[in-house]
Amino acid sequence: MDKSTTSHLDVVLKSFTFEESEGTQESLTVSIPEVLDPQYGMYVWPSAVVLAQYVWTHRGELVDKTVLELGAGVSLPGVVAARCGSSVILSDSARLPLSMENCRRSCAANGLEGVRVLGLTWGEISPDLVFVPALDVILGSDVFYEPEDFEDVIVSVAFLLKKSPKAEFWTTYQERSADWSIEALLHKWKLQCVSVPLPSFNANVAQLAGSTLPGRHTVQMLIISLGK
Ligand SMILES: C[S@@+](CC[C@H](N)C(=O)[O-])C[C@H]1O[C@@H](n2cnc3c(N)ncnc32)[C@H](O)[C@@H]1O
Repeated sequence: MDKSTTSHLDVVLKSFTFEESEGTQESLTVSIPEVLDPQYGMYVWPSAVVLAQYVWTHRGELVDKTVLELGAGVSLPGVVAARCGSSVILSDSARLPLSMENCRRSCAANGLEGVRVLGLTWGEISPDLVFVPALDVILGSDVFYEPEDFEDVIVSVAFLLKKSPKAEFWTTYQERSADWSIEALLHKWKLQCVSVPLPSFNANVAQLAGSTLPGRHTVQMLIISLGK
């Protein structure tokens, strides 16, 4: 772990290495800067490692595809997609400029130039959202963590999927309460979803990509698309 102090923030670089489970020796290491100042604390969440593993496993489908990450924070899944050849746009709340700064810092740490960072606040149909180009994949890790925001997230996703009807929303979330559900909201916004079992992409482990973050957390993965 490298520790560096920028002009006003204490930043630690965390490395994640994604490998083939069998066969080839292919691997990818990315570095994600985490801000240590608790006031601005922004770090990789367990769900992000799982989603990044899914991106890595499906990297062959993502070359030259346009990928947008919502609520990206330090942007591990988006950075992995960009390193695997996708044209990536990162986004976080327009009201949280420090989160957007985290997106930019993660790009810089991985030598990624030309990755756009947008302020997309969930539920707001802003000019930046309206002018997002046609997408193939939308990523969102741990964006379903505050029940009062669930519908706003889904409104943004539904808007983007209507603009890019073939796109899919790949999302992971940490199970924090047994009684929350997005099922009714998906129905309301005419979306459908399938659950992706973690063993299908070797993510059902406590240690992933060299990180112990998944640990004992229960993380789920869904693919959401426009309803038929
Ligand atoms: C639990 S963190 C997950 C961060 C990152 N996706 C990960 O998994 O490591 C939630 C993220 O959503 C962003 N966020 C919170 N409220 C938001 C909103 N209303 N619109 C857009 N992004 C928001 C936060 O800034 C933060 O980056």
